[in-house]
Amino acid sequence: MKLTHRMRRLRRTPAIRRMVQNVYIHPEDMIYPIFVTELADQPQEVSSMPGVYQFPLDHVLSEVDRCVKAGVEAIMLFGLPAEKDPQGSQAYAEDGIVQEAIRKIRAAYPDLIISTDVCLCEYTSHGHCGMITAEGQVQNDVTLDLLAKTAVSHARAGADILSPSDMMDGRVGVIRQALDDAGFEHVSIMAHCAKFASAFYGPFRDAADSAPQFGDRKSYQMDPASGTRQALQEIALDVDEGTDFIIIKPALAYLDLVNQAAENFLQPIVTYNVSGEYAMVKAAAQQGWIDEKKVVMEMMKAFKRAGADIIITYHAIDVATWLKEGQ
Ligand code: PBG
Ligand code: ZN
Repeated sequence: MKLTHRMRRLRRTPAIRRMVQNVYIHPEDMIYPIFVTELADQPQEVSSMPGVYQFPLDHVLSEVDRCVKAGVEAIMLFGLPAEKDPQGSQAYAEDGIVQEAIRKIRAAYPDLIISTDVCLCEYTSHGHCGMITAEGQVQNDVTLDLLAKTAVSHARAGADILSPSDMMDGRVGVIRQALDDAGFEHVSIMAHCAKFASAFYGPFRDAADSAPQFGDRKSYQMDPASGTRQALQEIALDVDEGTDFIIIKPALAYLDLVNQAAENFLQPIVTYNVSGEYAMVKAAAQQGWIDEKKVVMEMMKAFKRAGADIIITYHAIDVATWLKEGQ
């Protein structure tokens, strides 16, 4: 048979396949989330996220060490405070769990990139990401000041990158202004620009004990049915207000938007491979139904191919380790 085009020529040997490959995963492009808790004195495994733990301060350095040894150079901190109240005071307390964790980690790892989740839901008794009215409505503008205070307290403790995940309007601008006013113009903002009200966050809410006590997050997080144009508008507004990075979240079901963001904006694109995505892989792997390593690496390649520069993932240490082993 005389065929002009035989694509299989490019796939004939491992060396040829490697030569034409143009999607690469690097450990230094990944951010590893770490949960720190005031509620336990031993690491607690999150039942819906096998391999993910909540760490008391006394144990957090060993997890950071595992991360650094694997070649992952960035973490993202989430906190579980001992006390919650309607204003989420522990989110912006100088001696809050995340602030203490930043100081401790910074002292031991001067070059590690420390990013933090900036939100109130882990700290509010009602579990919403903002202040609520007596009727239970999440208020936008009064929340902004608390988010800014949280961001500044993380910067003061030594964080490099602040990642607002609340989806209040205008928070990037207010946080940028507050950081600049406090002398932290060098600290970056990695905003969750297009963050959807997603069922894929289920396991995270166990991990961070941050489930809303009533209602849902649909009045502030995006509707999965709202389409590309609204996502692009969300991103454009945050870029305008000064975000340095663009997060799309979740990852797997939103790769169209990762691609759109990469086509339309110049900032580094970040995809957040969320808890439910992690839990699905772990559960199927535990059943022996999928090959965890192969599935995870294929997902990482999909994120990169879609246009992500950076991947926030609970698989980060495993991926880095597999890469070293030559996967
Ligand atoms: C809090 C926050 C959430 C996640 C990150 N920050 C949950 C939510 O919005 O309910 C989800 C992360 C994950 O599922 O891995 N604002
Ligand atoms: Zn939140």
